[in-house]
Amino acid sequence: MQTDRSFLEIIEEYVESDKVTLPPFDKTALRIQQEIQKKEVQISKIEKLIIADPAMSSQILKVANSAFFRGLSKVMTIREAIVRMGLDEITRMALILTQKKLYETNDTFIKNYRNALWQHALVCALVSQWVAREAGFEETTQEVFFASLMHDIGKLFLITVIEKIKSAKDVPFMPSSAVINEIIKGQHAEQGYNLLKKWNIPDKYCQVAKEHHDEKFDTTNVSLIILRLVNKTCNKIGVSIEKNNDAATSVTAEAAFFGFSEIKLAELELQIEDSIKRVGSHYNIGGPAK
Ligand SMILES: [Fe+2]
Ligand SMILES: [Fe+2]
Repeated sequence: MQTDRSFLEIIEEYVESDKVTLPPFDKTALRIQQEIQKKEVQISKIEKLIIADPAMSSQILKVANSAFFRGLSKVMTIREAIVRMGLDEITRMALILTQKKLYETNDTFIKNYRNALWQHALVCALVSQWVAREAGFEETTQEVFFASLMHDIGKLFLITVIEKIKSAKDVPFMPSSAVINEIIKGQHAEQGYNLLKKWNIPDKYCQVAKEHHDEKFDTTNVSLIILRLVNKTCNKIGVSIEKNNDAATSVTAEAAFFGFSEIKLAELELQIEDSIKRVGSHYNIGGPAK
């Protein structure tokens, strides 16, 4: 047990020593994501990618035959699943199914953080697509979904580090949630950026992870601006581990960029509340944070 250093210093030591790693980014999900952004999407290519991954294939067939599609004939092949769910939904499912695995844990103390982080990531991703459509950036919906799903991956990494410190009994007691939240808040953007870079994720997504809390932001990266708007609104209404009631939650600049009125911003809050229900029912993969 090491008591002569601060909790933050112990975390930094773990990060620098590579004692903790997240599994590499799922290659199938990444290739599907790249494929669907091409001008002429080839269904056969996406079909082949999914078939080559038995675990993903069986999960997608399970979803295509789930209660949501009850009453329809049983889907037996990936091609039929693509037809039933559509390419956009298949891509979303591929990303969601592979990302969800990273948020699973048996540690009860950490579980609540992971649940809350997963809910926040998924809600941000779904609602960002809504914003993209409402703001006239329909063509960016896939990109913005991915960017938003990954924007706080640094938080997941830091929670994984804390989990490791806890199981190694490297601290005499676990600090309060307030201390943990403060550390995560301050460090996650940089850690997320480093992780996405390590995974060879394209730059525009790394930039979203890095700059989503910065005061100044790149006004040419539409995904970044959409995510900032959704993220701040999530934080404002408590769909986040961050409780931000200060001026930093003001979405004035982002709302002005899209010409969103007060009414539209109220609609955005409703979309967030609605998507929490979707996360719990249709996707059935991320219960609300406790
Ligand atoms: Fe964040
Ligand atoms: Fe966030």
